[in-house]
Amino acid sequence: MRKVPVNLGIIMDGNGRWAKKRGLPRQAGHVTGAQVFRKITKYCEKCGVRYLTVYAFSTENWRRPQDEVNAIMNLLRQYLKESLSDFQQENIAVRFIGNREELAEDIRLLIEEAEQSTAHKTGMTLNIALNYGGQQEITAAARKLAQRVAAGELDAAAIDETMLEKALYTEDQPPVDLILRPSGEYRLSNFLIWQSAYAEYVFMDVLWPDFKEEDLERAFEEYARRDRRFGGV
Ligand code: IPE
Ligand code: IPE
Ligand code: MG
Repeated sequence: MRKVPVNLGIIMDGNGRWAKKRGLPRQAGHVTGAQVFRKITKYCEKCGVRYLTVYAFSTENWRRPQDEVNAIMNLLRQYLKESLSDFQQENIAVRFIGNREELAEDIRLLIEEAEQSTAHKTGMTLNIALNYGGQQEITAAARKLAQRVAAGELDAAAIDETMLEKALYTEDQPPVDLILRPSGEYRLSNFLIWQSAYAEYVFMDVLWPDFKEEDLERAFEEYARRDRRFGGV
């Protein structure tokens, strides 16, 4: 049996550059990127990945031009509407991580529908990171615990790593084994900063819309060669 990460994170990056190289608007890169996302999700489930978290939109991505933000949100609407039946066939439980209060009402409803209709699925868990930032996530968790302390329900001295971890969006999911970032950038960009404390990193030069199953296989091979020591010897 080959070693596949139990919990995989993917920073789907490079859509804009892919489009620019072809003389197309950035939005065109997001359209192709969304197709690749669907294909790679299915492939991950086939390979035996148990938790897949994809970075779709960061808390910092609101800084982009309004028309680009709108295009991304519309792709998401389309994905959520179309994939509900896909999810039924596929044994994937979908969850959204990030601050949903700032999202449009109709998107929030579609998200809830997708989560509820797949909650009983026993296959891979797909976390879609949307309006997600690792710093925002940890801050929200700290606030949640602080409110419990203020209400007299919790002793501040009892707060440990396990408790904070359970207050994150990812709750009781296992730690991330591998973070994969295509597009040639070598940074985390506020993705899963707590969960990736002992993750392996694989950076690849390919732009996300060009990403193929073979690229994922290459990343898995690289991951299998890593010696993970977790501070031990
Ligand atoms: C990633 O691709 C998609 C999102 C951030 C929504 P980019 O849009 O960041 O593409 P580049 O990095 O500009 O090429
Ligand atoms: C990270 O990519 C966010 C997503 C892929 C959704 P960015 O393109 O926003 O990150 P930076 O700006 O290059 O760090
Ligand atoms: Mg980018």
